[in-house]
Amino acid sequence: MSTASIQQKIKKLTDEINYHNHLYYLENRSEISDYDFDQKLAQLTDLEKQNPEWQEPDSPTLRVGGAVTKSFETVQHDSPMLSLSNTYSKEDLQEFHERVVKGLGTEAFTYVCELKFDGLAISLKYSNGLLIRAATRGDGVSGDDITLNAKTIRTLPLRIRNDDAPQNFEVRGEVFLPLKEFERLNREIESGNIALTNAGRKKKPLLANPRNTASGTMKMQDSSIVASRNMDCYLYDFTAQDTEQESHSEALKLMSKIGFNVSSSFRVCENLDQVFAYIDLWESKRFELPLDTDGIVIKVDAKAHQEELGFTAKSPKWAIAFKYKSQSEQTQLVSITYQVGRTGSITPVANLKPVALAGTTVKRASLHNANEILRLDLHEGDTVAVEKGGEIIPKITGVDASKRKKDAKPIKFIDTCPECQTDLIRKEDEANHYCPNSKGCPPQILGGIEHFISRNALDIDSLGPKTLEGLIHKGLIKRPADLFYLSFEQINGLQFEVEDPSTGEIKTRSLQEKSAAKIIDSIEISKKTVFAKVLFGLGIRYIGKTVAEKLADHFLTIDAMIEASLEELINVPEVGQRIAESLNNYLSVSENIEQINLLKEAGLHLSQDPSEDTQVGTLFEGKIVVVSGVFESYGRNELHDMIKSQGGRIGSSITGKTDILVAGQNMGPAKLEKATKLEILTMSEEELTIMLTNR
Ligand code: IVH
Repeated sequence: MSTASIQQKIKKLTDEINYHNHLYYLENRSEISDYDFDQKLAQLTDLEKQNPEWQEPDSPTLRVGGAVTKSFETVQHDSPMLSLSNTYSKEDLQEFHERVVKGLGTEAFTYVCELKFDGLAISLKYSNGLLIRAATRGDGVSGDDITLNAKTIRTLPLRIRNDDAPQNFEVRGEVFLPLKEFERLNREIESGNIALTNAGRKKKPLLANPRNTASGTMKMQDSSIVASRNMDCYLYDFTAQDTEQESHSEALKLMSKIGFNVSSSFRVCENLDQVFAYIDLWESKRFELPLDTDGIVIKVDAKAHQEELGFTAKSPKWAIAFKYKSQSEQTQLVSITYQVGRTGSITPVANLKPVALAGTTVKRASLHNANEILRLDLHEGDTVAVEKGGEIIPKITGVDASKRKKDAKPIKFIDTCPECQTDLIRKEDEANHYCPNSKGCPPQILGGIEHFISRNALDIDSLGPKTLEGLIHKGLIKRPADLFYLSFEQINGLQFEVEDPSTGEIKTRSLQEKSAAKIIDSIEISKKTVFAKVLFGLGIRYIGKTVAEKLADHFLTIDAMIEASLEELINVPEVGQRIAESLNNYLSVSENIEQINLLKEAGLHLSQDPSEDTQVGTLFEGKIVVVSGVFESYGRNELHDMIKSQGGRIGSSITGKTDILVAGQNMGPAKLEKATKLEILTMSEEELTIMLTNR
């Protein structure tokens, strides 16, 4: 093929695939078989690979991601992205209406009601038909350029081919994670089978809600992960310099016509009663939608009226959000299950008679701890009120004591561990009950080993949670030290059963030769881990990463630590009574000493040279430093290490105690504002580099 015909072919395939994508994602129909579609896409991908210079800016291959954004550029919005003021009652809405009536005098006006989509706001700029920039709201004045990630949203046109579209325009809307995608992601996390971050780390807690996941996802560096999450977007605002629509409803219709995903749920309302009817209609109907909505937005329709009403500093006077109250339903308590966490803490969970609530069926609710059971005065078989707020786990908010049977017994918290039957303990000042059998209680064994192999400890990332569970189940490991005595022969082909969390089905898995070899290799490599990290990995209560470093630097060997008195331990910088007691207790238990000896024998570092003292300078001596944002030349851990090597301590959030803020790119505006308010010394990546190199 000649160059010209290759270029033509690429163009033709791009247009064809975009056309079919539009039909499929926006019009829910299709004129081509999946097979033919895939063929075309494969052909285009191939041609683009061989001729990257001819890739069209609206190529559908951009949808699958792949490009990585190292740091998101900050971009200015053409006009500020404002927020809406909220109301929670029809009375408040009545007041809003009266203000509008007053503002517009005798003029007749109409409203547009829309749903309030729960995601993150996005601004999209188009020029000559092409999507040229996508940005987050940021602080309203400037946001982050997330164009590469936005291009993965399949309902978002990368090129507009419609004569009604002006040459240059901006649309704004809400990016969201569809509920079924959110549920799919959580199922995958549960099964330990997902790359959650750019670094692709394993097992993490479940995602709390679709909104946070949506904003986290759109700020991911690797656009292929963004693509895999099938994000979607509804548009609700249109601005063009050369053509002005007379009303918001016309703008919505135009956006839909030229190819944007506009929710068909909007309505023009002639009066407040119609607005109220819209609110009532969607109060329950919204749960049938594929995304979370938390209210409705009421906007004065005519642009001329909007202009007349104007803005306050933060929000338009011509629009307001009405938020629905969180839904509550009554149901019955069936039983209580007690879950044992990785640290031995016991969480009671209420099993409920299934009840439909906010679009899902609720069967369980967390009860947090024994105090919560007392606070609710919960009895067997009680009728309870369950509520779902923004979070995915429902709460029991109250008990209807009038519906209680006379002979119903109060719920009594269990005395023994449901996993290992050990007597539970509860310290006076703590709300949680604990199972003290940390060495013999299965979820705690797993938790301890997971901590030991985690990134900040031994960093053995070839051992997934399911494999680990299998090894524990087979009795091959009972404590961290056992890892170093595993042989390839023992684990190669090892069969173990795992439960599929989504179906409850038990499946048999076997460890492949390659994985087994990788596990043995990475265990071997981990023997080089420095003393402080091994110490941290032991999972001694209250001994975090920083304290482990201080202890290692101070004592240099574990033996010196074993010999040290409580006073000597307390005298170490950053070690207080509580930490010293915990360490002292740990080191006085013979099984722990046995494990330390096994680790030593296996060749792990349980001492360090004085020269390994990690502090090399005093630039941040005694200072609490908070690191925030993304950095061009340093990873987060690397920066932390550098600060610590200069005597600094790492703070997790900006408070009155923070001395210095090292601000990277894309730092949240709220944080920066707080730091300014508290007059915290703020330094950029460049300033930090200069200071460090000048030392
Ligand atoms: S209009 C000037 N319409 O709610 C106000 N916003 O609190 C422009 N949102 O930042 C926003 N659905 O992220 C508008 N139908 C809708 C919306 C909506 C969700 C979000 C949006 C905005 C926030 C305002």
